[in-house]
Amino acid sequence: MAFYRQVGEVTPKRHTQFRRPDGGLYSEELVGEEGFSSDSALLYHRGIPSAIVDARPWELPDQTLTPNAPLVPRHLKLHDLFPGEEHKAVDAVTGRRLVLGNGDVRISYAVSSLPSPYYRNATGDECVYVERGAATLETTFGALTVGRGDYVVIPRTTTHRWVPTGPEPLRTYAIEANSHIAPPKRYLSRYGQFLEHAPYCERDLRAPAEPLLAEGTDVEVYVKHRGTGPGGLAGTVHVLPEHPFDVVGWDGHLYPYAFNIADYEPITGRVHQPPPVHQVFEGANFVICNFVPRKVDYHPLAVPVPYYHSNVDSDEIMFYVDGDYEARKGSGIGKGSISVHPGGHSHGPQPGAVERSLGVEYFDELAVMVDTFRPLDLGEAGIAVDDGKYAWTWSGRGPSA
Ligand SMILES: [Fe+2]
Repeated sequence: MAFYRQVGEVTPKRHTQFRRPDGGLYSEELVGEEGFSSDSALLYHRGIPSAIVDARPWELPDQTLTPNAPLVPRHLKLHDLFPGEEHKAVDAVTGRRLVLGNGDVRISYAVSSLPSPYYRNATGDECVYVERGAATLETTFGALTVGRGDYVVIPRTTTHRWVPTGPEPLRTYAIEANSHIAPPKRYLSRYGQFLEHAPYCERDLRAPAEPLLAEGTDVEVYVKHRGTGPGGLAGTVHVLPEHPFDVVGWDGHLYPYAFNIADYEPITGRVHQPPPVHQVFEGANFVICNFVPRKVDYHPLAVPVPYYHSNVDSDEIMFYVDGDYEARKGSGIGKGSISVHPGGHSHGPQPGAVERSLGVEYFDELAVMVDTFRPLDLGEAGIAVDDGKYAWTWSGRGPSA
């Protein structure tokens, strides 16, 4: 993260004695990126953050990836996953079903009602988009109240758990990186402050405001880490002698935060603006963009829907969250759909969409897009809800028609 934050008690001078009320010393822990050479936080624990009393394997949800072959654009119907009351037995971590993935990023979906176990992802940062529902995200840095439309960015190895709140199930779209996830560099000054042209800024970000302390013994923490399983991953359950939420204070530039998509100020123009104006975050070899309700192109001869485009270096994954996505009308895509537009196939508006958009002044659409610079393979959940027909919607006929 770009800016400094302090929560709870810390010492005036770093790396000096900090005593508990009983006279013992707090344990100082540096959580830092890029080997002590990038953003970090200093945390003060009541206990010893290294202490574990047991370890056992955690069998991760199915991480098998299948190539998109033969190469076709696809429509994945996420809302067909977790039918009926299934969410009552699901949590937002162990219940994730893998939709798409490659060596840089994995996209999973869960509809949950149970609290997750304590969890840390040691493979990279997570950006979890909350499609619907509400939750408290409990972390070693403190708690965050999150809900519909929030992107929740959780740095690598942050111990946390998802606790659904409110009457409806929690629908989470988890973007798990094998790297860090941050605002685009071009939005930031060389010292990390958001610049004037950025579509959001520090005031739009929410972070823990006070320490979160809990008591407990023999507490299990589920760790996702590099390994030799599918996707190069493995899981381990560490059992901690004391509760991991024992941080009385911390400071630094590295911590979980939330940003709501409604706070994204869209950039518009007289003619069609390219997708980079919709960018919200970036990771290694992928970007996250969002399409929010906005006034559209106002040149008298403007064509508000996108031109056909061949992203020769990217696969383009759009998750349609709300509203009506003008360019996709007639394709069967609706709320809860994902479109997969792979590199190697030129995509654009469905037949008739260009003509229908002429003269339109406002698009009521909400979508989250992930563009990857390496091809995406299909996870088991992606295969399970592939409609099998989308590829033929521009021509109106296909092999099964
Ligand atoms: Fe596109």
